[in-house]
Amino acid sequence: MTNDVEVLGGARLLIVDDDASNLASLTRIFEREGVEVISASNGDEALEILRRVRVGVCLTDLMMPKTNGLELMRAAQTVSPETVFILMTAFGTVEKAVEAMKEGAWDFVTKPFKRIQIVRAVRRALDRQELVRENEILRAQLEESHRGRAVIGNSLAMRRTLDLVSQVAPSSATVLLLGESGTGKELIARAIVRGSGRATGPQVAVNCAALPDSLLEAELFGHEKGAFTGASTMRKGRFEMADRGTLFLDEIGETSPQVQVKLLRALQEGEIERLGSSQPRSVDVRIVAATNKDLAAEVEAGRFREDLYYRLNVISITLPPLRDRKDDIPLLAQHFLRLYAEKNQKQFDGISDAAMDRLMAWSWPGNVRELENAIERAVVLSRGDSIDVDALPPQIHQGNTDLRTLSIPIGTSLADIENTVIRETLNATKGDKKMAAQLLGIAVRTIYRKT
Ligand SMILES: Nc1ncnc2c1ncn2[C@@H]1O[C@H](COP(=O)(O)OP(=O)(O)OP(=O)(O)O)[C@@H](O)[C@H]1O
Ligand SMILES: [Mg+2]
Repeated sequence: MTNDVEVLGGARLLIVDDDASNLASLTRIFEREGVEVISASNGDEALEILRRVRVGVCLTDLMMPKTNGLELMRAAQTVSPETVFILMTAFGTVEKAVEAMKEGAWDFVTKPFKRIQIVRAVRRALDRQELVRENEILRAQLEESHRGRAVIGNSLAMRRTLDLVSQVAPSSATVLLLGESGTGKELIARAIVRGSGRATGPQVAVNCAALPDSLLEAELFGHEKGAFTGASTMRKGRFEMADRGTLFLDEIGETSPQVQVKLLRALQEGEIERLGSSQPRSVDVRIVAATNKDLAAEVEAGRFREDLYYRLNVISITLPPLRDRKDDIPLLAQHFLRLYAEKNQKQFDGISDAAMDRLMAWSWPGNVRELENAIERAVVLSRGDSIDVDALPPQIHQGNTDLRTLSIPIGTSLADIENTVIRETLNATKGDKKMAAQLLGIAVRTIYRKT
């Protein structure tokens, strides 16, 4: 496995030259510059490397037997589109280099060149790659704070959970997140990814329940051109995209036996195969998985592979249901009130004592998600200075756990009605999307699209 890749955070440099002494001296130059270098002595070898590992910059000789620099660059556009190319051309072949620039090469240098020239050209390209990455991270962080992605909670149970999160986040260990629907597994998964040493690496997420089996396999492991009808081009899977980063496998309890076998191999050997190919590719991916199923019981019932369960269960974090940490209710309610008041451009002084009593008394089968929905609804419906009991959903308002009716004001749009019905059904099924879909007579995928 590629252990070396974790040491350096920066972009990698791939040097390709068929002249062995040139290759050696270039490699030395950049290693001394502190750049992580991989070298290849021909175009095919280089392409193989580009397939397997993330390369920021490729410095390649233009004239090489068999696959030349230009052909390599063209091929790389499909297997590694993020890599930028710098071509080394001999005197008299500058025309070719110009052609390459038109096709998207980043830069070229003409031989013979001075050390400082080539170093400067490569530096510029590496810096640019670094910048692109930093921007991506920055953008992601901004999005997080705007979406109100902070983890709220001060109860003992939540403090223990957050302690554990900060302990495991920096490692590369596999983490399994368990807990009822709506307890915040996805939120915690994102916090783990942010706090990890891989925060600068790619962060990829897949919802295993949102796709039918055959598509899920292709999504996870990728496919070659022509692997199945409709596979008109090669596509990298999420595992390959997450190389050197983290892959979040949500709803892992919903995977089929066939997908489970492949996941096991990916975790155990760090290897995957694209559909339609028998060539193993190594991937260096940290896995964070989540499910609202009782995975141990699923193993017991023969629906989930035991060996995969143990692979995933290196560190497991179980998120407590909201009814077991009622101390957090006021904090969470205030948090969501601020969030949704701002979104709806309204202002409230707070939540009335009577309404807070109701919130504290309710059992929250849908956990934090249900609370969030209740507050959002109350914000939309309330006209006064504070949130009062009558703005709360009827079952909470009346404190009747068995009441399962909906009342919808005349004049509500069909789209809103649909959303409300789906949301309330999900609350009633404690977040079980399959059951909700059955009750509503719609596809599970539709539920994922609408929530
Ligand atoms: N501790 C928390 N602080 C703030 N918001 C929270 C917290 N826990 C959950 N939420 C919010 O509640 C909603 C549901 O959380 P999330 O999607 O993480 O649940 P989940 O456990 O993944 O549920 P499911 O099993 O149904 O997928 C999200 O909008 C999330 O931001
Ligand atoms: Mg989730």
